[in-house]
Amino acid sequence: DAGVFTYDPGFTSTASCDSTITYIDGDKGELLHRGYPIDQLASQSHFLEMCYLLLYGELPKAGDLENFESTITRHTMLHEQMQYFYRGFRRDAHPMAIMVGVVGAMSAFYHDSTDIHDPHQREVASHRLIAKMPTIAAWAYKYHIGQPFIYPRNDLDYASNFLRMCFAVPAEEYEVNPILSRAMDRIFMLQADHEQNASTSTVRLASSSGANPFACIAAGIACLWGPAHGGANQACLEMLEEIGSVDRIPEFIDRAKDKADPFRLMGFGHRVYKNFDPRATVMKQSADEVLDLLGIENNPKLQVAKALEKQALEDPYFAEKKLFPNVDFYSGIVMEAMGFPTSMFTPIFALSRTVGWISQWKEMIADPQNKIGRPRQLYLGETARDYVDIEKR
Ligand code: SDX
Repeated sequence: DAGVFTYDPGFTSTASCDSTITYIDGDKGELLHRGYPIDQLASQSHFLEMCYLLLYGELPKAGDLENFESTITRHTMLHEQMQYFYRGFRRDAHPMAIMVGVVGAMSAFYHDSTDIHDPHQREVASHRLIAKMPTIAAWAYKYHIGQPFIYPRNDLDYASNFLRMCFAVPAEEYEVNPILSRAMDRIFMLQADHEQNASTSTVRLASSSGANPFACIAAGIACLWGPAHGGANQACLEMLEEIGSVDRIPEFIDRAKDKADPFRLMGFGHRVYKNFDPRATVMKQSADEVLDLLGIENNPKLQVAKALEKQALEDPYFAEKKLFPNVDFYSGIVMEAMGFPTSMFTPIFALSRTVGWISQWKEMIADPQNKIGRPRQLYLGETARDYVDIEKR
């Protein structure tokens, strides 16, 4: 009764659930969070205020925002024993592998916030995940590069705390540039929630069985990792590096159009947007701001990206297929300019998307009609037949 699944090669579903959190109009290129357009939120709000909006449905009044921010700030530390989980990974483990493991391990640590039928415990689990994800992601990075963990500080805002935990070292403090911090906060906002994408649907499906919330978020992280989904930001920057110069762009556009070639333009196309992804527009502005601040506005990858966008959008194939840049097309350029390696791009996406996963999880768990997800199939296999002894096969 939540909608009828129709089978086709693209496995199009008419509606997997109803929700009041995020609305996308793919043809108009419109994205609303609780009714507020993403471009207005990105320019006038900040990530923790948007977290409040996604979680509770309304923009907070001053006192509510102050209380929420204080709660998040005071839950950024991890249980000290959780450091041992990091040490169990090989040094060259991808930070996403570490995040899947550590977030899943939270289900073994924070027993007092795993009863999904207790509204207070749901609140505690939500706040812990939003608060601790920057620490988890930053420590995954530090472990990956063999540097000591840097603890969060309560005098820093959410984005600044994350940047400092990634780039400070005991031997030298990291002074957070407010423009980089604002750009980081905006990246968090642009990736916060996006309706029923693959990883959010994974969290909903896992949670529908009543599973532990931390384990369900770990499932979402695993799904997001794929290059067709949240892993596209890393794949996109690696593609821009491979293209290398503007004169090689036609070669890659031809490959993307060749059905025999599995290559696709990373950061282009979307299951829902058949127009510009509004997040890509804001992310492109951030790229210009950050690279200008850092004095690398002529960054070769940005030049290639802008030329690639222009040439692709002028090509009839992309117009016919309605393929436009998505949120991942420019995000990697900004994050690399901030100092992150490509392996940290998807962990940052997971950090951002945690509030979306949690908001959708809370909405589903609170719905008395919620039943365990059980998609059906269109069976195309053999009809019933009798067993044949091996001598007769
Ligand atoms: C995210 O769902 C979400 O909301 C996801 C996300 C979120 O916030 O959660 O927005 C985040 O995952 C963004 C998408 C990131 N992925 C990439 O950038 C990877 C590159 N893009 C693709 O692989 C692709 O566009 C998908 C996976 C995103 C969508 O693929 P579909 O379902 O095949 O897209 P489609 O149905 O719109 O494709 C129409 C046609 C197809 O050709 P035909 O079968 O009709 O001949 O366009 C082709 C596709 O083959 N096509 C591409 C292409 N993307 C689609 N051709 C070349 N390059 C591409 N990038």
